[in-house]
Parts: sequence; C-alpha cells; structure tokens
Amino acid sequence: MRFKDEFFGSEAQITVSKRARDLWTLSAGDPRFSYNGRMVALNGDIGPEMIDVLAAVARLQGAVTSHFFPEDQAKKTSAAIEELGLSCNRWEFYRGQKTAYEAAKGILAKYQLPDDLTVERLSPETSAKKVADLATMAADCEVMVMSGRVMRGLDIEGITLGAYDQSGAAVSSAWGYKCYHPESGLSENAFWGGLTCREDRRGQKIALILGAMSIVMLWEDHGVRGFCAGITAGNMPSIAVCEKLGVLPTDWVGLGVTDPNMFEGGRLTK
Ligand SMILES: CC(C)(COP(=O)(O)OP(=O)(O)OC[C@H]1O[C@@H](n2cnc3c(N)ncnc32)[C@H](O)[C@@H]1OP(=O)(O)O)[C@@H](O)C(=O)NCCC(=O)NCCS
Repeated sequence: MRFKDEFFGSEAQITVSKRARDLWTLSAGDPRFSYNGRMVALNGDIGPEMIDVLAAVARLQGAVTSHFFPEDQAKKTSAAIEELGLSCNRWEFYRGQKTAYEAAKGILAKYQLPDDLTVERLSPETSAKKVADLATMAADCEVMVMSGRVMRGLDIEGITLGAYDQSGAAVSSAWGYKCYHPESGLSENAFWGGLTCREDRRGQKIALILGAMSIVMLWEDHGVRGFCAGITAGNMPSIAVCEKLGVLPTDWVGLGVTDPNMFEGGRLTK
C-alpha cells in the first residue's frame, strides 16, 4: 500500500516504530502484549516473568511500555530494570469512564472551535501531506506519534483527529485507539490522548474540544468504555485538560523502559 511506510518522530522513535510493526507480526496472538502504533507494549503486570519480558522486549524493540501497572510495585520494578542496564521512567496513568463521556458531551455543548479551523479524521483517503503535517506538529509538541497506518485507522480500531487552519496547516491533535489485546481483559479501554496544540494557538480550548470530540466518537461508535492516558508528573497543561474531560488519576502507572543508547535520558514521549 502506498502509505505502508509512514513513520514519524526522531530517528530512535522511528526505529522503535518499525521494529514494533515487525514484532507485532510475531506476537499478536499473545494476550500479554498489545500494539498501540508506537510499539508492542505489555498489558499491565503479567506476573513473575514481568521483568525478564520487559527487558527482552526493550532490548529487541529499543523501548517498551507497560500500561495498567500497579503503582505500589513500580519502584521495585524500575530498580530491577535499571540493574539490567536499561532506563526506566514512569507516567501517571489517568483513566475516565462514563464521567469522561458525560464531561466530553458537556464541553461540546458549551464550547465551539474557532471559525478558521476544520477537523479531519485521518483515513486511508487523507493525503500523505496532511498526515505528515499533523505528525510533525505533534512531534514538535514532544509527543511520540503513531505510525501512519495506525493514525489512518488501518491497523488498530481507533481514531485520529486533526484540526487544520485555513492554510491547511495542522493546529491540534487528539486520538484514541482500542489497542488492548482482546484476551487481556482490558479491551474495552482505549489508549487515548495525543492532545497537542501548536504553541501559537494555545489557550483557545482547541485541544480540549478535540479531546472531547474524540471521547464521544470512541464511546458512541467504537464501544470504548475507558479512556486511558499516561501523563508525565507535573505536565500541568495536560493534567488540566484531562481532568476537565473527566480523565482522572488511578492507582496504576505507565512504565517506559528504553535502551539508553537510543534514548538519552530514557524519555520517549511527554
Ligand atoms: C496539553 C496542551 C494540548 C493544552 O493546550 P492548551 O491550548 O493550553 O489547552 P486548552 O486551551 O484546550 O485548555 C483547556 C483548559 O486547560 C487549562 N490549562 C491549560 N494549561 C494549563 C496550566 N498550565 N495549568 C492549569 N490549567 C491549564 C486551560 O486554562 C483550560 O481551562 P479553562 O477551560 O478553565 O480555561 C498543550 O499544552 C500542548 O500541546 N502541550 C504539549 C504536548 C503535551 O504535553 N500533550 C499531552 C501529552 S500527555
């Protein structure tokens, strides 16, 4: 297909995304794993082999994450991973259920996007330029972007929304993917967020509205009942927008394990 190889972000992020595409071909039948368009990830705490499997996938892929990981085990697991010479960082794991759907509907009833913007849901018909422009804008906001096939809704059920101005330039993004393995017990959830806004357009509630639109679409058209996001502690703009959308802190964290030769400081995404 003509957009088979659309990858975005830094060289290291692109390497991980390409390896993930191939690793998923091998691991899709295993409910310990999910593919979220960035990488093959672990579904929470997979039991006694957790550390060995995290380390193995991180070495193979260059990076790996685990969502729904119990907060009270995070310190011990991070320390064990670091002893193996890998880097480990954590995100606070936020989730919204029906409250998020209701909050999102409330936001859409109250606010409107600025008149100069149009919202597009990426699909196989979207031009390569539009996909690349949205990906570049999101990457400039330090958010790791999914592969083009995933953003176009091809490899995983889900949606990617972009707001574009009258010149066609990308202004803001939001997404959600129903990526958790069908046998993981988590498959009603979406890995949601991707909230970005170009710096010169911040403060206009654009990301808030796009986030709300994505929640309503995922709930109504895709049966999503949990909206999950990993947020770096202290990312106040992100926390503010998520909380306004009813996506709130949980007792889980997201763990990110990286090969320190590829990711300086261990950081994958905001
Ligand atoms: C997160 C981000 C999209 C927010 O964009 P924004 O244009 O500031 O947000 P909005 O205008 O949609 O704001 C929505 C609400 O959040 C509030 N908010 C934004 N930044 C805030 C901050 N630093 N502290 C408290 N509230 C904040 C706004 O005041 C607004 O609330 P209001 O309705 O009461 O006025 C933007 O900062 C961004 O692109 N950041 C970099 C990428 C990133 O970190 N994304 C999140 C990844 S998890």
